Amino acid sequence: MSQLISLNDITVAFNHQKIVSNVSFVVNTEQIVALLGPNGAGKSTLIKVVIGLIKPTAGTISRAADLTIGYVPQSITFNAALPITVKRFMQLNRQLCDAEIKQILAMVEADNLINDFMQQLSGGELQRILLAQALAKHPQLLVLDEPAQGVDVKGQILLYDLIAKARDEFKCGVLMVSHDLDLAMGSADNVICLNHAIYCEGSPKTVAKNPAFMALFNNLHKHLHQTNHKEQE
Ligand SMILES: Nc1ncnc2c1ncn2[C@@H]1O[C@H](COP(=O)(O)OP(=O)(O)OP(=O)(O)O)[C@@H](O)[C@H]1O
Ligand SMILES: [Mg+2]
Repeated sequence: MSQLISLNDITVAFNHQKIVSNVSFVVNTEQIVALLGPNGAGKSTLIKVVIGLIKPTAGTISRAADLTIGYVPQSITFNAALPITVKRFMQLNRQLCDAEIKQILAMVEADNLINDFMQQLSGGELQRILLAQALAKHPQLLVLDEPAQGVDVKGQILLYDLIAKARDEFKCGVLMVSHDLDLAMGSADNVICLNHAIYCEGSPKTVAKNPAFMALFNNLHKHLHQTNHKEQE
């Protein structure tokens, strides 16, 4: 197992306010690392540091030589006035022949969508196509910012399964942001809980038992339950 990226004491500040504080971790080949944390915790900011979109205020990041990264951003919008098919979207980054497109779409169980318009896909279909596009360049590191957003539970289970399958197929490392700890924990080898700084990390089993983790996520579950309850009243 070799190291793909290593973050060393990364701090990011916007307008002198620290959003990410002294974060260090590594992602190795064939390892799935899940980044969990509440809204505004700095997860997307950290992801952008990893892919080189944001320069950290302090700290260093090392990447394996010639590292290829496949990235799926947290949000993407398509202009309704400029319809684009799945096939065309798959070719935006790299020219792919029909056979290659079909093969990658089949991997994410979306070969039937090849001629559909991106604008018309369901939440689950869209996320599978975004995953397929990120996989099209055979990345050594797959970086996914909330790959299961807008997807129902069954679709989420499928997505996390597909991510694990992609890791096996391409022997790549995966860094993914997730809100659903139960589902993410099923496929992750390592979990990092972030709330500006790392407040716990380790194997899913170790982290689930960590009191700091339980306090944060139990509160979140309680809050969600109360909100749902109020909405039903
Ligand atoms: N370019 C920027 N300039 C100023 N503030 C920013 C910038 N980017 C992000 N922030 C702030 O940093 C904080 C963390 O944002 P970030 O998007 O990293 O959170 P997140 O953990 O991904 O949240 P979510 O779960 O909602 O996606 C937020 O308060 C956000 O407003
Ligand atoms: Mg985010």
